[in-house]
Amino acid sequence: MELTEIAEIEIDTLLDAIRRRYDYDFSHYARSSLKRRINGLLIKEKLDMPYQLIPRVLYDEQVFNRFLSELSVTVTEMYRDPEFFLHLLETVFPVLNTYPYFKIWHAGCATGEEAYSLAVLLKEAGLLSRAKIYATDYNNKSIDIAKKGFYGRENIEVSNEGYLKAGGKQCFSDYYSEHKDQIRFNDELRDAITFAYHNLVKDGVFGEMNLIICRNVFIYFDNELQNNVLNLFNESIISKGFLCLGNKETIRFSMLKNKYNCLSEDNSIYRKKD
Ligand SMILES: C[S@@+](CC[C@H](N)C(=O)[O-])C[C@H]1O[C@@H](n2cnc3c(N)ncnc32)[C@H](O)[C@@H]1O
Repeated sequence: MELTEIAEIEIDTLLDAIRRRYDYDFSHYARSSLKRRINGLLIKEKLDMPYQLIPRVLYDEQVFNRFLSELSVTVTEMYRDPEFFLHLLETVFPVLNTYPYFKIWHAGCATGEEAYSLAVLLKEAGLLSRAKIYATDYNNKSIDIAKKGFYGRENIEVSNEGYLKAGGKQCFSDYYSEHKDQIRFNDELRDAITFAYHNLVKDGVFGEMNLIICRNVFIYFDNELQNNVLNLFNESIISKGFLCLGNKETIRFSMLKNKYNCLSEDNSIYRKKD
């Protein structure tokens, strides 16, 4: 047996140990990125081989937390892909406007920037008071940051540019207050969003959603897990509701493709058929 094959067994054993000890199942995460992340952690922990992580992870929860941080790539930003938000504003908001009350789920929201970006646009469209927004992630550290709603000021110019490109019409600074080198979104925006823990691998359906946004999460999943999560979303979306994925993600190759109309291929925006 080649050394690379033995390393695969080590990784499987490590993932099994994590699943049994912490109830986090990474066995259906895309293998190549999973391996890169495990290698990254090995370097940080000054270890050579995946099997050496097993006792560390089993007996030291801090090591598991570092594993989780390494695995959950929490890269995000305000108005990431502004054209996506513009498309949402132009095609989905008019439909949301026909409902007296509607629900939105941001799955895999990381530190919350995506949810706040949308809440600002909803506010501007006069829709925020009718919206109930849930934003979830399986990384509790990220959720805590999102709940507090403080963000560094260093990126505010880029955020402002994104806001304008996304169809923002006022001044982005109307929506936050400044606190030294940080900004904090206004109470109205923070109150509109419920941030919560939810693991897409094992947790269940989340209410009756008019719109689900899950961007840049599927790229970390293998095909089987993508299909399972798509089924979860399908069960959670009302008839004629909307589903949005990241622009490198699609439902084109899934079993759901015939149940949805594609509204924008470039921005991966879909609408459930009646
Ligand atoms: C790259 S971020 C995407 C953030 C945001 N949606 C965006 O596009 O900017 C991916 C997020 O997916 C989360 N994630 C990965 N696996 C998950 C799972 N099984 N359940 C819930 N969230 C998960 C990670 O913790 C991370 O915050």
